[in-house]
Amino acid sequence: MPGILLGDVFPNFEADTTAGRIKFHEFLGNSWGILFSHPRDFTPVCTTELACAAKIEQEFKKRGVKMIALSIDSVEDHKNWSKDVMAFNGNAGSPLPFPIIADDNRELSVQLGMLDPDEKDKDGLPLTARCVFVIGPDKKMKLSILYPATTGRNFDEILRAIDSLQLTAQKKVATPVDWKPGDKVMVIPSLSDAEAASLFPNGVTTKDLPSGKKYLRYTQP
Ligand code: BEZ
Repeated sequence: MPGILLGDVFPNFEADTTAGRIKFHEFLGNSWGILFSHPRDFTPVCTTELACAAKIEQEFKKRGVKMIALSIDSVEDHKNWSKDVMAFNGNAGSPLPFPIIADDNRELSVQLGMLDPDEKDKDGLPLTARCVFVIGPDKKMKLSILYPATTGRNFDEILRAIDSLQLTAQKKVATPVDWKPGDKVMVIPSLSDAEAASLFPNGVTTKDLPSGKKYLRYTQP
């Protein structure tokens, strides 16, 4: 099964997009990146997702994340579909603020392991799943989420996950369930108490547990 795993260097593929031909690594530069795939142009769920992504484009920009979408249709279809997407957003006439990759021959979708065998077009060919790939400035894959075509994504969760990825890339912490920026975080298990005390000047609090083990250590980053 082809596909990219966490920690793999993301392929430096070349592709045609609504912003011209790109080489992926050059497109990313030194930024973080997000690549999200769509089953097809001119489909309802995909339209709501792209519209949402366009609406919160500044949130990605603020975090230094370059956005790019992919669907298995042509550049021309993508350009026409983008007009629908922006009109759906109440912004008819404005350009979609990020490019869409054309993968009408499904080459990239196969290479990146994006095809959903359970979701087929009218010719019986598989469509792309709703993949979310977040790529770090080192070009390695930091997060991968895979939804089937029938389940639209939650972009608030994607931004929340990016906040966690960017924080945990800088500090030796992990973010607990439902964490949001500003909340306390957990000290990672591989740090000793002495190391944690010196790394986290805001202090470390430990929750008592029936096991007596001191592994639930919180700090304010
Ligand atoms: C959609 O985007 O609405 C969609 C695409 C393919 C299958 C099901 C839904």
